[in-house]
Amino acid sequence: MSIISKAMTNNWISLVDKELRASHAGETGAVWIYRGALTADFLVSIVAGLWAKLTPPRLSGQEDEKQKRDDNMSSFASEHLATEKSHLDIFENHMPPFRGSYMLLLWMVAGFMTGFLPRILGRNWFFYTIYCVECFVDEHYEEQCGLLESVEPTPFDVLEKFRRCQSDEQSHRDEAYNAMTSAPTSAMKLWGNMVGKGSAIAVVMAKKI
Ligand SMILES: [Fe+2]
Ligand SMILES: [Fe+2]
Repeated sequence: MSIISKAMTNNWISLVDKELRASHAGETGAVWIYRGALTADFLVSIVAGLWAKLTPPRLSGQEDEKQKRDDNMSSFASEHLATEKSHLDIFENHMPPFRGSYMLLLWMVAGFMTGFLPRILGRNWFFYTIYCVECFVDEHYEEQCGLLESVEPTPFDVLEKFRRCQSDEQSHRDEAYNAMTSAPTSAMKLWGNMVGKGSAIAVVMAKKI
């Protein structure tokens, strides 16, 4: 192998390694977002149960409506958790070997809080947060696929697997947006902005550390 082609090979190995590390960190965070949301869901249902015992019964229609909304969030989080686990499995078992981020614990905690807090704040907070996260993830996968196209053919069909995950994230984004019952408030937009900026910083850090 010539010096030039060896240098090129080393370059793309390093590029693929960084992109795999960043997306593995992202998918780890995504799994923990839904773990955080389901934990909050569990706590909210306990508090709601206690509250129902302490207060006079509400009109059954109101009660049913609230229960339906909570069930909807819970099944959304459970279904998405399963998909994010399947994405993580792709990165952990079906990709070329890469160095994982040294900061995985931080991505888990950050993910957990990103799911936990909005779920406590309510339905639209939760779905809007997922919408913002998935908008970021979709754009990030798009950027990565653009880079990977320059090193085609990628080993282990890395590009095709990134595209498959991206397509799921696009469905998650649309599903979350459609589940919202009103436009986001200014506070929600501020939070969504912070989530987007935080995700961008996390990607930069995960590529390096
Ligand atoms: Fe994912
Ligand atoms: Fe997703």
